[in-house]
Amino acid sequence: MGNLIDIKDVSHTFATDGGPLHVLDHLNISVPEGGFCAVVGPSGCGKSTLTRLIAGLMIPDEGEVWLHGERVKSPRSTVGMAFQNPVLLEWRSILKNVMLPLEIVPTKLTRKQQVERAEFLLALVGLEGFEDKKPSELSGGMRQRASLCRSLVHSPEVLILDEPFGALDAFTREDLWQTMHKVKAEEPFTGVLITHDLRESLFLGDQVVVMSGRPAHAQYVMDIPFDGPRVLDDLYTPESAERLAILRHQIEIAQGRATAEDAA
Ligand SMILES: Nc1ncnc2c1ncn2[C@@H]1O[C@H](COP(=O)(O)OP(=O)(O)OP(=O)(O)O)[C@@H](O)[C@H]1O
Ligand SMILES: [Mg+2]
Repeated sequence: MGNLIDIKDVSHTFATDGGPLHVLDHLNISVPEGGFCAVVGPSGCGKSTLTRLIAGLMIPDEGEVWLHGERVKSPRSTVGMAFQNPVLLEWRSILKNVMLPLEIVPTKLTRKQQVERAEFLLALVGLEGFEDKKPSELSGGMRQRASLCRSLVHSPEVLILDEPFGALDAFTREDLWQTMHKVKAEEPFTGVLITHDLRESLFLGDQVVVMSGRPAHAQYVMDIPFDGPRVLDDLYTPESAERLAILRHQIEIAQGRATAEDAA
């Protein structure tokens, strides 16, 4: 099977008040169909820029972005996105927030099917019974769950998550990780997760890409074989500890705080 996402030799420089800012430098990332790629890297190295490139919200100076065999040159409706701060509309119910994208991008679903789709997703993430609540009546974790449903409502080919769990406490975050696995089993998508949390990258990704400091390339790629559902205890095996140590060392290299020669 071919790759669903192909970032080919992408370089990009932003014009800023302080002069040109070279952000990406010959970045290469491939994600197979159904894969889940976790991307980690130093702050400001260009991770969010990468998500905008995949979504077609910007075009790189050099190199190419391909989605499902098509070169990305404009915004894609087949890409769903969720961010650190779920922006939900306070005057709409949770159900109507989840249905919002269906009002913006045309759908073949009837109104009844749209409601059923939103209700199905809300139940999948554990928000059954909260359909009529307003966002302010929900906890941060619940709002993030609703936001996840909203980004899935169009059955996107690609789901991009830019630090979606970053603002949550550790236990809520771990709950959300498990929900992500459940969602992934029910709703086929190809995922790209930006995170600062190495354990999160190991728990959710089947591939972890460490981006270098700016200008960023893919400094290190770790494949994590996916053999059956993951449970939180998997994070405490000697194998996981070893993987975490490698990733931590790679981040230190990316931050310029260690060299490849230093012992991991
Ligand atoms: N449209 C833009 N114009 C100018 N500079 C930009 C633009 N977008 C991003 N940048 C700059 O490019 C660099 C990379 O930004 P980006 O948001 O992709 O980093 P990031 O890896 O997501 O950072 P963080 O980990 O803090 O979220 C930053 O220095 C940022 O200020
Ligand atoms: Mg960012």
